Amino acid sequence: MTIRIFTVQDLAAIGALWDACRKNDGALYRPFDEAYFKEKFLDGAVYEPALLLVSCEDGKVTGFIAGCRKHAFLPGETEQNTPGYLTTLMVSPAYRKRGTASALLDALEERFRLLGKTKADVSSLNPIDLHWLIPGTPAHEHNNMPGADEENAATGFLLSHGYKPTVHEVAMYLNLSDYKKADFVEQKRSELLRQGIVAGRYDPKENCEWDGMCDRVGSEYWRKVLRDELAKPSPRPLFCARTEGHIVGFTGPADVEESGRGWFTGICTDPLYEQKGIATVLFNDLMNCFISIGAKYSSLFTGTENHAQRLYLKTGFRPARRFAMLRKEL
Ligand SMILES: CC(C)(COP(=O)(O)OP(=O)(O)OC[C@H]1O[C@@H](n2cnc3c(N)ncnc32)[C@H](O)[C@@H]1OP(=O)(O)O)[C@@H](O)C(=O)NCCC(=O)NCCS
Repeated sequence: MTIRIFTVQDLAAIGALWDACRKNDGALYRPFDEAYFKEKFLDGAVYEPALLLVSCEDGKVTGFIAGCRKHAFLPGETEQNTPGYLTTLMVSPAYRKRGTASALLDALEERFRLLGKTKADVSSLNPIDLHWLIPGTPAHEHNNMPGADEENAATGFLLSHGYKPTVHEVAMYLNLSDYKKADFVEQKRSELLRQGIVAGRYDPKENCEWDGMCDRVGSEYWRKVLRDELAKPSPRPLFCARTEGHIVGFTGPADVEESGRGWFTGICTDPLYEQKGIATVLFNDLMNCFISIGAKYSSLFTGTENHAQRLYLKTGFRPARRFAMLRKEL
């Protein structure tokens, strides 16, 4: 067996391998599509030939491993303190149980080490987002694999090769045709108003500040989301709770993906204002907005221990799959 860098001549073989893993192992990926593969693995800003490897035997491609690393860092992130990301690993069913996956993994990890990485992650923070089909739905898909699928045998393989779960995630799904706003939502909105908190669609002209909330939530990501969205000439719908010129809760921006999925970046409430019903009101506003802009379903993921699950369940979401974020110290 040899391991070498992937070339475009391998595309047909990778396509066959990809679809074999879907059929044989229930891998949740979309059916192979050359244009999609190129967009995700070859055309993006993080493309790095040395991190796309194939194994070959008998003159055939028998396996594929893809890794990547961040090239744009958030405040506090550096090349040294960010991981190498393992995006996918697949071995042809006919060539298993002979060390191919181990050899591919060793080769990728060695390349990560040469780049100065001290850890390898399977994580939703991977700059390459791979779509996956949500089981039990009419081919509805989520735009990002939040870690390793706990029902796929590859996860067991990684666990036996030094990867350890850092977080367990549950993906949740709501077909928006089943959505019904609960009666308590408007009661909660009125209660908030009585406390001087306005919760609902945010008008950028209100010019509120949000740094205090982001500092207390500890999220540079949401600080950037709000800053970038509000700097646009026509920001997409944002739903915020605000009081005395401060944003103290946020969800959005709302958008619809080609698949019909209602898309948003997340939801957060300033810890100083938690458990008052802010997220409940904003999240229901988001669902109504999704419906009004033509979304057919919504999907998200959250930590299995995150109390946000309660909010999602009460809005009508159901658990769809569990994923594990994995890390190996290199
Ligand atoms: C999750 C989060 C958005 C909830 O915001 P919130 O405004 O406090 O939520 P609400 O007051 O509307 O409460 C929603 C439900 O969660 C429950 N809840 C909220 N905070 C809780 C806590 N600390 N512990 C247990 N349950 C909690 C509430 O009791 C409520 O359930 P109920 O309707 O059955 O009473 C907020 O805690 C947060 O910003 N967390 C950090 C960011 C995050 O994890 N976002 C989700 C990522 S997927």
